[in-house]
Amino acid sequence: DSHGEFLDCFHLRSANSSTVSKVIYLQNSPSYSSVLNASIQNSRFTTPATPKPLVIVTALQLSHVQSTLYCSRKHGLQIRIRSGGHDFEGLSYVSRVPFLILDLLHFRAVEVDVKNEVAWVESGATLGELYYGIASKTKTLAFPAGVCHTVGIGGHFSGGGYGILLRKYGLAADHVIDAQLMDARGRILDRKSMGEDLFWAIRGGGGNTFGIVLAWKIKLVQVPAVVTVYTVNKNLEQNVVKILHRWQYIAHQLPDDLFTDVTITKVNSSGQVGKKTVQAAFKALYLGGADKLIPLVQDRFPELELTKQDCLEMSWAESVLYFGGVPTQSLEIMLNRTALPRLTFKAKSDYVKQPIPESGLQGIMSRFLEKEADVSLMLMVGFGGKMDEIPENELPYPHRAGNLFQASYLVGWTKGEDEGKYISWIRRLYSYMASYASKLPREAYFNYRDLDIGTNNVGYTSYEQASVWGLKYFKNNFKRLVQVKTMVDPTNFFGNEQSVPPLPSPW
Ligand code: FDA
Repeated sequence: DSHGEFLDCFHLRSANSSTVSKVIYLQNSPSYSSVLNASIQNSRFTTPATPKPLVIVTALQLSHVQSTLYCSRKHGLQIRIRSGGHDFEGLSYVSRVPFLILDLLHFRAVEVDVKNEVAWVESGATLGELYYGIASKTKTLAFPAGVCHTVGIGGHFSGGGYGILLRKYGLAADHVIDAQLMDARGRILDRKSMGEDLFWAIRGGGGNTFGIVLAWKIKLVQVPAVVTVYTVNKNLEQNVVKILHRWQYIAHQLPDDLFTDVTITKVNSSGQVGKKTVQAAFKALYLGGADKLIPLVQDRFPELELTKQDCLEMSWAESVLYFGGVPTQSLEIMLNRTALPRLTFKAKSDYVKQPIPESGLQGIMSRFLEKEADVSLMLMVGFGGKMDEIPENELPYPHRAGNLFQASYLVGWTKGEDEGKYISWIRRLYSYMASYASKLPREAYFNYRDLDIGTNNVGYTSYEQASVWGLKYFKNNFKRLVQVKTMVDPTNFFGNEQSVPPLPSPW
């Protein structure tokens, strides 16, 4: 049995055999399930039918990572690298072939250097741990990554990573300046020794593809000590369609200091008991005080009817919690990896380059009124700003100039319910959106992983087949990613359902 052989191999390579029991979990270990489930964010992949790893390695040091790589190769176990476990399709802890999980949860150091405005952060740290590390030293530095504080650095940076500083500063990956990576041969490389092609690929070209990224050096960005946020809700009875229609013309052209997004959900109607309506929550982060924000929004977006009462001033770190929907008592909550409710969900994404007409928005609203949409949302994130300035081939993430907004859709349900009708609801919404979203390719955000858009085979996958999903995530950068992959991992040791494949060897 391959897991027994793996264990023997791991033991043999360990100088101190007593630590092995602290890092290896087999299916019969008492804490196997709790270690496996600890960071699973989508309960869709916690059913008895979900394929489980034969081994989980919670590496404590580099030699454990190296032994995992060596022994899994020797004994034919596929590796799934896991940092924060937020993969929408569970690819960091589910596989179709015999596999193990290399869990980086102990690689979570965060070192912030305020003077030089840089930090080193290990892959198993969460965004919250990074933000807390920065905020506990200064209020005027920040990092342009996601809003959900439990997200892992490893997967997030590997797929781009965006948050509420997107319009001012771009993506998380845009601010990575060095990295520590273990390649398929077990070598530990930094930016210089890996070379610029590989360093380009790991900043957005997807995780579990080019190697194990252990740590990242990042450039921090400046923010004012006081920022302002607001949320203004509008529903069907309050002209939401007209206001949303206007937002599409405004959001991408606002000053870079102003980020806005809109979340569409179904809510109870305040008028009649039992009646539902659709609500759009218009949110914003402004890098400055309310006194400047209010006249700006009243001038550019009068339809929103923003008032002083809607605005709250706070620190940047607090604004992350505000957007994440976490009540802000204290920043310490950023260190809590289980602070957010876990959903059972399916999600998809789009990029929109032309405003959707009012009739089109009306169609979205009617889909949200359907029964299956009780726990569902559509998030529209205003683009423009810095994103318009970065060339499409600067990093693997290609969705830059020309996008009005990124759209994403999520449907959730109660675990155990028949998921078919919910998944079919989101697929219907997605096909409805085909007329309004980007075309040829219909672009998608890698970090919002969606296996519906195409997958690799278990064995060999041709360039043409992988292009079906690859061009949607990476557009023309897909070609260069395949070239880098062919160079650094020609046997596809690090592979999954949506990892960039190598070209076949010519001999
Ligand atoms: P996970 O550990 O599941 O890894 C994801 C992928 O990367 C897997 O394929 C894994 O094998 C690989 N991988 C992980 N660590 C690696 C490493 N060290 N080296 C190489 N490969 C590695 N996104 C966003 O841009 N902005 C946002 O605000 C949010 N918000 C958000 C909220 C919630 C609740 C969820 C569930 C997800 C998001 N996301 C997001 C999406 C998120 O960026 C995406 O799921 C990331 O891949 C998650 O990274 P983790 O390390 O947590 O995932």
